[in-house]
Amino acid sequence: MPRFILAIDQGTTSTRSIVFDAQAQAVAQAQEEFPQHFPASGWVEHEPDDLWETTLATARTALAHAGLEARAIAGIGITNQRETTLVWDRASGEAVGRAIVWQDRRTAPTCARLRQEGHEALVTARTGLIIDPYFSATKIAWILDNMPGARARAERGELAFGTVDGYLLWRFTGGAVHAIDATNASRTLLYDIHRGAWDRNLLALFNVPESLLPEVRDCAGDFGETLPEWFGAPIPIRGVAGDQQAAMVGQACFRPGMIKSTYGTGCFALVNTGTEAIASENRLLTTIAYQLGGERTYALEGSIFVAGAVVQWLRDGLGLIGHAAETGPLAAEADPEQDLYLVPAFVGLGAPHWNPDVRGALFGLTRNSGPAEFARAALESVCYQTVDLLQAMRADWCAEAGTVLRVDGGMVASDWTMQRLCDLLDAPVDRPRILETTALGAAYLAGLSAGLYPEPERFADLWRLERRFRVGMSAPTREAKLAGWRRAVKGLLASAG
Ligand code: G3P
Repeated sequence: MPRFILAIDQGTTSTRSIVFDAQAQAVAQAQEEFPQHFPASGWVEHEPDDLWETTLATARTALAHAGLEARAIAGIGITNQRETTLVWDRASGEAVGRAIVWQDRRTAPTCARLRQEGHEALVTARTGLIIDPYFSATKIAWILDNMPGARARAERGELAFGTVDGYLLWRFTGGAVHAIDATNASRTLLYDIHRGAWDRNLLALFNVPESLLPEVRDCAGDFGETLPEWFGAPIPIRGVAGDQQAAMVGQACFRPGMIKSTYGTGCFALVNTGTEAIASENRLLTTIAYQLGGERTYALEGSIFVAGAVVQWLRDGLGLIGHAAETGPLAAEADPEQDLYLVPAFVGLGAPHWNPDVRGALFGLTRNSGPAEFARAALESVCYQTVDLLQAMRADWCAEAGTVLRVDGGMVASDWTMQRLCDLLDAPVDRPRILETTALGAAYLAGLSAGLYPEPERFADLWRLERRFRVGMSAPTREAKLAGWRRAVKGLLASAG
């Protein structure tokens, strides 16, 4: 009997494949970065073939490193950068242009018009989202209206839409499966998260023909099997979830009130709200956390667009560090007397402000501000934004939400950052032993469906703490720092009009 699971994590800047054994331990992995395309200000694109080829290459390499053949794999779990939008030809499989990435802001004018026309209340009531370029719907319409002949082809039923999960499913199965899981569907602005169905009114509003749409499925279940040519023999695909939802599963946040925050390119904090979809009054998103056995579990989500990307900026943009791991120690050297604040609105601001037009700024620069102060301001900006999200969550739903925060993603390797996060949150921060929680979540969904892994409650028992960070900052210091951050954000938003 096959005893391993292959998890594929197709992220914003790289694709990673990890093989997990029957105890949900990682045994081998492979990772590849791929180019980012910025054809105009605020535009971000990916080449569809890059997404596919890095997926296939890393999956093959991970299997080779594990010394396994296809027949040893009980199932593939796919997790992906969410919202990123692809349209392709159903007959040839050829993509219509590049993928438009979640960070892309080109449809901001369309979104502004739709908001001005007063459509946001309906959209939010049905989808749990707000009208913002972040989500898929306006990106689909942009492709149809700007790629030659695309809308006519769509009207004739010749084209298919997918987020990255759907595109990979299509390619893995040679076009046999055109599907999306419920979590990814919940990020399109076209899906009624309460009824669990595509919404005709929203399709009309966003001008998206129904014929483009994939079939929506549970996160753990049958997603077809890979063509034999990819791995020498077919492998069943048994799990799919958007990467933030997969991280929630990998962090075993199965009970209402449990919260995780993932620090990748951006930062995404999700609190499990159980079978109840909570409407936010603080500009958070209501989203599907996972759907198992036809039953939906919901989450409130706060989305920050720039987290790890701020460290990349220090390294590649400013050249202040040679490696991400240097940031924490450099920040630790910063002068405590200097109050330098960075608002990293490189691609606008996400929750709770949702301003796609504003751009980043530094506040409090002095003649003495140097690399250490820049590094501290950069890392603290991620912490402050997390504080804003958790406060919104507490106000929206449950005063207890986020009493303990489970963290994961590349940035959490930094002890300095996690301690500062805990100090500013005024709440413990738990770092798990397994930091690859996104891939683990995808593996779990596939393994659950394949009968290899136990039910959620027992899987939750396997979660292990590596370190709990405890609050060490005094209340007056924290309050002063948070007040400075709020002034900086307010100043930026005011200057942007
Ligand atoms: O919503 C976007 C998110 O899914 C991207 O995640 O980890 O690629 O930054 P990541």
